[in-house]
Amino acid sequence: MDRKLTIAISTGGGDCPGLNAVIRGATRTAILQYGWRVLGIADGFDGLIFPERTCELTLANVSGILPRGGTILGTTNRGNPFHYALEPGSEPTDISERILENARALGIDALVVIGGDGTQGIALQLHAKGLNVVGVPKTIDNDLLATEVTFGFDTALHTVTDAIDKIHTTAESHHRIMLVEVMGRSAGWIALEAGISGGGHVILLPEIPFTIQKVCDFVAERERTGKRFTVIVVAEGINIPADMEQALAHERRASRTGGKAALVGEAIAAVSRREVRATVLGHIQRGGSPSPFDRILGTRFGVAAVDLIARREFGKMVALRGSKVEAVPMEEACRGLRLVNPEGELVHTARSIGISFGD
Ligand code: F6P
Repeated sequence: MDRKLTIAISTGGGDCPGLNAVIRGATRTAILQYGWRVLGIADGFDGLIFPERTCELTLANVSGILPRGGTILGTTNRGNPFHYALEPGSEPTDISERILENARALGIDALVVIGGDGTQGIALQLHAKGLNVVGVPKTIDNDLLATEVTFGFDTALHTVTDAIDKIHTTAESHHRIMLVEVMGRSAGWIALEAGISGGGHVILLPEIPFTIQKVCDFVAERERTGKRFTVIVVAEGINIPADMEQALAHERRASRTGGKAALVGEAIAAVSRREVRATVLGHIQRGGSPSPFDRILGTRFGVAAVDLIARREFGKMVALRGSKVEAVPMEEACRGLRLVNPEGELVHTARSIGISFGD
């Protein structure tokens, strides 16, 4: 490919440590290896609806961003261009044509879309309409089907493990049951892996149905062996157990901003008659400087995405498979979510060392 291309980079969906490593890796490769021009699209696909916020990415302005969390381009997890409300409260319409027109007007030859399953799904639809796209998978939840690991997950694990370590001290000193609610809207990867690495005693996952009674029985058994405290790691996406209402004798609902651990904690307190506290880690898990693993994976993905453009392999997403970065059809990433296997090796490991899943 001899012509000097213009490529653009956008970050969509929830922010995640390592996004800036991808932006830097892709920009530096495009400029240093191919001599291309690179544009930064602001706030996910919104930046192609309102292109005046587009900026040029240069070696100078991606300098120093490697250790920074978040994304220098901004992001949003609202606003699907195929169903977009231009004014708050207005009827959503399909404005994807506008994206294609603006991409043409900006002279964009190819777009690197960094995002989770929702963002990749939109990118695939834009690709079907003629936009040259390549995908880079991202989510702290680590639940994308086509890749073994997403960057951001490792940093989140460090944050959550540290929090569980800290919760231990109060749990042990006050002889309490302490719940730590972690992210994972559909999949329990953060709860499972940080639960193991943080030495949690009970792990509650969306993938394994549990009961309040079983959790309380486990706490009682620990007490019989002299352990007067219990740390319970709760994925935010758990399904409320069947015996919850019975335990609380009134209906409660968790909110969008978390709260399932508080509900489960209340039910455990009612049944066990023990002192219980719940902590929601929330967006702290998405923040902070990326770990070395996430910086390296983000950089590898950024480089690989630009190489895909050079090979004109559009409609593909970079992915980690068997420790190698490969390209997979974007459809694969959108086909569903990678959930914890209740019969898998990690759950077996946890059970073997005495961790309860409340089942
Ligand atoms: O998908 C990543 C994620 O961190 C989920 O675990 C969580 O439910 C969601 O994002 C929170 O998103 P928001 O920033 O909209 O609250």
